[in-house]
This record gives sequence, C-alpha cells and structure tokens, in this order.
Amino acid sequence: MSDTQPTPTPQWRPAWHFTPAAQWMNDPNGLVFHDGVYHLFFQYHPYSSVWGPMHWGHATSTDLLHWQEQPVALAPDALGMIFSGSAVVDHDNRSGLGPPGSAPLVAAFTHHDMAAERAGSIRRQSQSLAFSLDRGLSWTPCAANPVLPNPGRRDFRDPKLRWLPERQCWLMALACGDRIGFYSAPDLSTWTLESEFGAGQGAQGGVWECPDLFPLTAPDGRTRWVLLVSLTPGGPNGGSATQYFVGDFDGHRFVPEDTQVRWLDFGPDNYAGVTWSGVEDRALFIGWMSNWQYATQVPTAPWRGAMTLPRELVLRTGLGGQLLLASRPARELQALAQAPLLELGVQRLDTTLDLSAALAGTDGCFLLTLSTPALQGFTLSLGNERGDRLHLGYDAQAQRWWIDRRASGEVDVHRSFAAQHSAPRLVDGGAGDLALWFDHGVVELFADDGLSVMTSLHFNRQPWCQGVLQAEVPMALDSLRLQALRDPR
Ligand code: FRU
Repeated sequence: MSDTQPTPTPQWRPAWHFTPAAQWMNDPNGLVFHDGVYHLFFQYHPYSSVWGPMHWGHATSTDLLHWQEQPVALAPDALGMIFSGSAVVDHDNRSGLGPPGSAPLVAAFTHHDMAAERAGSIRRQSQSLAFSLDRGLSWTPCAANPVLPNPGRRDFRDPKLRWLPERQCWLMALACGDRIGFYSAPDLSTWTLESEFGAGQGAQGGVWECPDLFPLTAPDGRTRWVLLVSLTPGGPNGGSATQYFVGDFDGHRFVPEDTQVRWLDFGPDNYAGVTWSGVEDRALFIGWMSNWQYATQVPTAPWRGAMTLPRELVLRTGLGGQLLLASRPARELQALAQAPLLELGVQRLDTTLDLSAALAGTDGCFLLTLSTPALQGFTLSLGNERGDRLHLGYDAQAQRWWIDRRASGEVDVHRSFAAQHSAPRLVDGGAGDLALWFDHGVVELFADDGLSVMTSLHFNRQPWCQGVLQAEVPMALDSLRLQALRDPR
C-alpha cells in the first residue's frame, strides 16, 4: 500500500446498508425491479474516492438485505459523463431498442459535457438513453443520443421515467434549475414539454435536482401525486435535503395542494433519493446517505458513500389535518432484528433506564423502539470507552425531535459536521413512538410512525456499548424494545 492511501476503516462499513466495495458513490440511479431482482445503479467513480468523471455503478438484490455489486454499467463517452437518471422495463418495446417482441430495460440519464462546461457553455447537460437485453448486466448507449438536447438551460438533468397508462405514453420529470419540467414521449425518444412546476414554490435555497413523481392513496381513499425534489444547499438543517409536494397530476400538469414547504427527512444525510420503478404495491425509496457540504471529506476508506435503508413512503394525516409523507423502513428489514435483548411492557419510566447490558450484545448494530401514550421530553445518550457520545431525544418544550453528534467521535469532517439537528413533531396528540435503526456509522430515526425522520452519520471510534435513557419527568411506556440487528453479509 502506498503512503498516500488512507487507512481502511472497516469499523465504519455499514453491515446492512449498501456501500460499494471501494471508491466514490453518490446518488441512487436507475432503480428498477425486474424479474425478481431489485437493481440499484448509482453515481460512481471507479478510480477515485472523490467525485469525478461519473459512471453508473450497479448492485442487485432479491431481498433488499443482501446486495451484490455488479460490473460498472455505464461509463463516460464522447457526449460526456453519465449523471443521474432512472430505468424502466419497456414492456412493449415501444423504444424499438430491443428485438421485436422483447422487453428491454431502458435507462434515461443525463450526459454532462465537461468540454462544453470548460468552454463556458451553459448547454452542457442533455438527456440520453441506454438499453440492456441481458437483465441489466450490460448496457448499450443509444445511437441517437442525446434524445433530449439542451434547450439553453444551465441545469437540465436527472430524468425520472414513469409509464402513464391513461395516456399510453412515457413521462419524464426533469430538474431544470428552480423548477421541474414534465416531458412526454410515446417511445422514450421523442420528448414534448408538457408543463413546468416550481418557480417560486417550495424551498428554493439551492438548485433543484433528482425529481420523482408518483401516485399514492391518501387516508381519505383518494389518490394524490407526490413530487420529490432534492435541493442543495437549502436543507432544513443545512446543505442537501429532499423536499416534497403533495398534489394532483392529470397526465400533463402537476398542481400542488398548497405551497407549504415539506421535508422527506430532516436529518443531514439523506439526499437525491427516488423510488423504484416496477414495484407496483408500494413506493419503495432509497437515498444517498451524505450531504454535499462534506461528502468528499467523509473519513471512510476504501469506499466513500452509502445508501439509506430502503423505505416505504406512505401518505398520512398529520398536524392540523395536513397530508404528509411518512417513511417506514421496508418491511424486509424486520428479518434482521434478533430476539429482544431488552423488552419492557406497560410501565412508568420514572427517571433513568440503563441500556448498557443490552447494548453489550449488539456490536453497535441495533434497533431500539419505544411507544408511549403520553410523549414527554427525554434524552438517549450512547457512549463508548473512548469517550464518544451521541445524544438524541425529544424536546417537549420545542416539540422537536433532535440528534446531537457534536461529541460522537471523529467530527473533524467539515466545519458543519459537529452539530445538533432537529425535526418538528408533525402529529397532534400525546401518543408517540420512535424507532432508531443503528448500523456502523449511522442512525436513522423514525418518529411518530415515520412523519418526523432524521438520518445522521457519525464516526464513533468504538461501537456504542453504553446507553442511558433519561426522562425529564416520569413517562408512561407502552413498550420499549432493544434488538440486535443481524449482519446479513
Ligand atoms: C445530485 C447530483 C445530480 C447529478 C449528480 C452528479 O447529487 O448533483 O444532480 O446528476 O449528482 O453526480
């Protein structure tokens, strides 16, 4: 090993979150379920652990727990780097990219032309296609690329495809600076601009990226359309984050129900997430677990970049009767949870509950769930023998969930890293619940049935083996459970 190579950090390799074996990864791309296989493509630099000429890396899974890395799917070509995009099964071969009667996999992605950028041109991003006839293993860029040339917009990227059965055409949602463009095509190649949404709407603190539009059934039984839009910077806790809009879509135009800003995840480390194509019974989502503020300085080696746990997105009624998007860990993940190391039923938590004995059986990968009929302020403090501390909890006065990683270990990542982050409580009423999913180097907090979500990286120098739950005032518990999470590798 040469002197310049950083020391490997296996202690921060998540056990059940996807990471590439080595090198740089950002956004999830081309999420498609096909023939029983979940495909996860991703922004990838095969030759460096910092961002550079983007390729599409590739991983597959049949259960969302075990991921197998596959050969690189797409590499930069004469038209440029391969930026983010999506993939679909072209069931009736409308693209004509497969032989008659076949159903090719088709990917739509952004070509980013570095030469044009260096020459000062704003016409540097255009949309292109590639197809696969061997179940996603190898990909051929389309000879007619780009299929959607740049119309004179500096930011013009991240196509997300969806089949519209009512109109018998394809829809492409595209990030265009401060708005989303909706394009339609019968064949994935001849794109017509239908409408644009977003100028002056929602959070506008940074450039809009990686859109996704999908229908969900609301609690009132009616269908609504959810539009995800990532932006960086401008997130609720600084840097990168994903907002969403709830509204209607008539096949041409998206109309939001209101102009309120809503966040999919309030934590600092969930970005550019989108949903799987080809999964009909649920909106299955995954995000990139990092933040452009410090992504290139994250102290892991030989890889840099991880995905969130796969999540199911559902519409729920929250505070003041508004329709909100809730995130729940995909049900498959329950298979990782071992027999409880600690289980409490209905009782009163007077002050302090020591979790250390239970944590000793976990290697730092665990699921802690609690539910209460009357949520009160409390703090959970985790520690280890190196003196690292991670605190999180609920602030009853501010009515906010929070995570404080200021003393969580290696925090010298970037000046914005050592911080406390918080999320508003988004339900009325006293009952509350919390699920904390811990893997090496990360916690994902799902509160109030997934309405307040926070994803937060941390680089603790030893696994969490000490834990104390401290209630500010006596708190009624319905249940509390701590379970080790199995390493599926
Ligand atoms: C989002 C993003 C996308 C772009 C890609 C480049 O993180 O900036 O807009 O396509 O990353 O790697």
